[in-house]
Order: sequence, then structure tokens, then C-alpha cells
Amino acid sequence: MKKYLLLCILSILVLVPLYVWLNGSLSRRWCPEVSLSDNSEPRNVTILLWHWTAERARAISQNMCWERFNIPHCKVMMQDAMYMKADVVVFHNLELSTGRMKLPLDLPRPPGQRWAWMSIQSPDNNGRLLREYGGVFNLTVSYRRDADVSIPYGGFVPREFGDPVDDIPMKKTDLVCWVVSHYKESFRRSQVYKELSAVIPVKVYGRWFNKTLAPNDLLPMISHCYFYLAFENSIGKDYITEKLWINSYQGGAVPVVLGPPVEEYEAVAPPHSFIHVDEFASVKELGEYLQELAGDAKRYGEYMQWKRDWKVQPTINKEWRLCQICLRYPSFPPHKVYTDLAAWDKAT
Ligand SMILES: *[C@@H]1O[C@H](CO)[C@@H](O)[C@H](O)[C@H]1NC(C)=O
Ligand SMILES: *[C@@H]1O[C@H](CO)[C@@H](O)[C@H](O)[C@H]1NC(C)=O
Ligand SMILES: *[C@@H]1O[C@H](CO)[C@@H](O)[C@H](O)[C@H]1NC(C)=O
Repeated sequence: MKKYLLLCILSILVLVPLYVWLNGSLSRRWCPEVSLSDNSEPRNVTILLWHWTAERARAISQNMCWERFNIPHCKVMMQDAMYMKADVVVFHNLELSTGRMKLPLDLPRPPGQRWAWMSIQSPDNNGRLLREYGGVFNLTVSYRRDADVSIPYGGFVPREFGDPVDDIPMKKTDLVCWVVSHYKESFRRSQVYKELSAVIPVKVYGRWFNKTLAPNDLLPMISHCYFYLAFENSIGKDYITEKLWINSYQGGAVPVVLGPPVEEYEAVAPPHSFIHVDEFASVKELGEYLQELAGDAKRYGEYMQWKRDWKVQPTINKEWRLCQICLRYPSFPPHKVYTDLAAWDKAT
């Protein structure tokens, strides 16, 4: 009996550690995602929105990146008390430029914390204070393609098998349509409009022309136009807004664009989907081209062909924009400082 007991104790002494060792090494080897004991679980990234207005912060909640976009390990906070723990502090330029909020330059920065400057406006509308922000920010969050976190107003992706193809609205009653709320003779877009309307009819809506449209009427109106003037309200690198992504593409009119150079549109918009004002020697030639196209169903249809292979995705949602910071977080350079933010913003 004693002999068996000894054998039993011995085998326990040998087998149990063997089992534990094997089990541990096996699970580490084959199931790395379940071995919670090592440090491989990604850390949570904490984003702090510094003094955002209640209006801007509406609908933003701590776990929204996971709940809305399945982006894990991302927390979005608004309490000042989180400052020492925040990985990224996001300053919204509009709050800075209006003087509603000041940079907390007196606060010590925890090691590794990054300050992000966020704006979705064009350089003309970013205000004059940018010059004072040299050496303050580590990251830029903007629609620009070269920002650390690029949050364009839209983009396009391949159409997947089974995705419905948008109908091409062919019941067109107007040749060219435009919606404008700020109009000044000196704006280039106003000049182009004036010259164009001398050649072909242009139907104009918007506050300036005392013909405001209810938001729900905008896209149906545009769907009746062959062409939509997607003229940006100011010219800036990569500044291509919902006038292209929503008004034109979703409205179902071919966009005539005025904004950054044609290459910048080509980099982000579906192929053969727009007409750039700068491609013509004169506005008169542009007008004649539009008239010709409207009378030629085949050539006009070629500007809609992209819909068979691509779909556009407007991205106007502020929650989505913020969550991109977490997505990009692992690839941020270990050290980066914008020594001259104003120069970066104005660069073309
Ligand atoms: C991240 O946050 C979640 C939810 O609050 C928590 O369960 C998890 O333990 C945190 N992870 C780390 C590595 O701190
Ligand atoms: C719109 O209405 C205002 C006030 O009635 C007028 O001064 C202005 O000239 C109108 N604009 C246009 C483009 O007709
Ligand atoms: C962020 O910018 C500050 C101020 O210039 C600098 O001291 C800090 O090292 C930078 N941090 C990172 C992670 O780049």
C-alpha cells in the first residue's frame, strides 16, 4: 500500500508541473489571444476633448468607438480630471479661434501625451491665432491627406458583389444647378458663375438668391439637374467637401468642381466622375462642353459609369472622425512637434 501511495505522490509531483508547463506553452503557442497572463492585450487609448462646446460634444460618449464602429480599446472623455491620464488631448480649432477656449499651456504634460489640433475648415477660416501655436501640437487631425489623422469629407470604395447600384436619375429638367449662401463678387466662384450663366442657363438656390431649400428638398432638386456646381467656398489643399460627396454624387448630378487642383480630386474621387473648371481654357468653353454633354446621352452616361464599380462614402460624422484617432494611434511617430502650424496649414 505504501508503495502505491509513494508512486501516486511522485506521479502527481511530475505530472502536474508537466501538465501546467505543456498547457502554458501550448496555449501561448497556439492560442496567443487567450493567454491573458502576458502583456499582449492592447492598452486602452484615452482621448480627451478639451473644453468642447456642448453642441459639438452632443452624442459623444465614452464607449462610442466600440459601440458604433467596433473600434476597441478606445475611450473618449470630456472631464478635465482625466487630463493626467489622457493619451491624446484634442483641441478643436473653432473653439480656439473664437477665443472661447484657451490652450492650457500652464498644465504640465504627462510624458507621452500628445496634443492634437483638429479642424475641418479651410485655411482661410482657421483664424489668425495659428501663428501662436508653434511647438505646441504633436498631431494634426484634418481632412488633409497628409494629416496624422486624415478625416476626409468622403471617399470611395469598390462596390461589392450584391451591393445595389444607385439608379442614375435621368429625368433631368435643368442643365446646371447651384446652391449658394455666401456670395461676393470678388469670389472666384462668383466670377465663374457669372460667366457661365452668360453662356448657359444656371438655376440658383440658396440664401443669397432668396431661394432657400429645406434640407429634405436639396437632393431631390439636384437629381433633376444634369450638372451641379460643387464650388468650394475657399480654396485649400485637399479641401473637398460634402458639396462633392453628398450634393453631387448622392444627388445624382455630375459635379462641376472648383477647388484644389484637378490632381487632388483625382486622388480621392472615382475616375471620370467630375468635371474640373480648370480643365477648360475659358468658362465659355466649359459652358459649351456642358451643353454638348447634356445633349449626348452616351457621353453624359460615361460620367456615371463609375457607379458600377465604386460607391462613395461621405464621412460627415464627428464620432467617426474622433474614433479614427484611436485607429491611427499605434502608427503615430514616437516624437513629433509642429513647430509652425500656420505654415503647415497654409501649405499647398
Ligand atoms: C480597457 O477597458 C475595458 C473596458 O473598460 C476594460 O475591461 C479593460 O480591462 C481595459 N484594458 C486595459 C488593458 O486596461
Ligand atoms: C434678396 O432679398 C433681399 C431683401 O429683400 C434683397 O436686398 C436682395 O437683393 C435679394 N437678392 C437677390 C439675389 O435677388
Ligand atoms: C509633444 O509636444 C511637446 C511640446 O513641444 C513636446 O515636449 C513633446 O515631447 C511631444 N510629445 C510627443 C510624443 O511627440
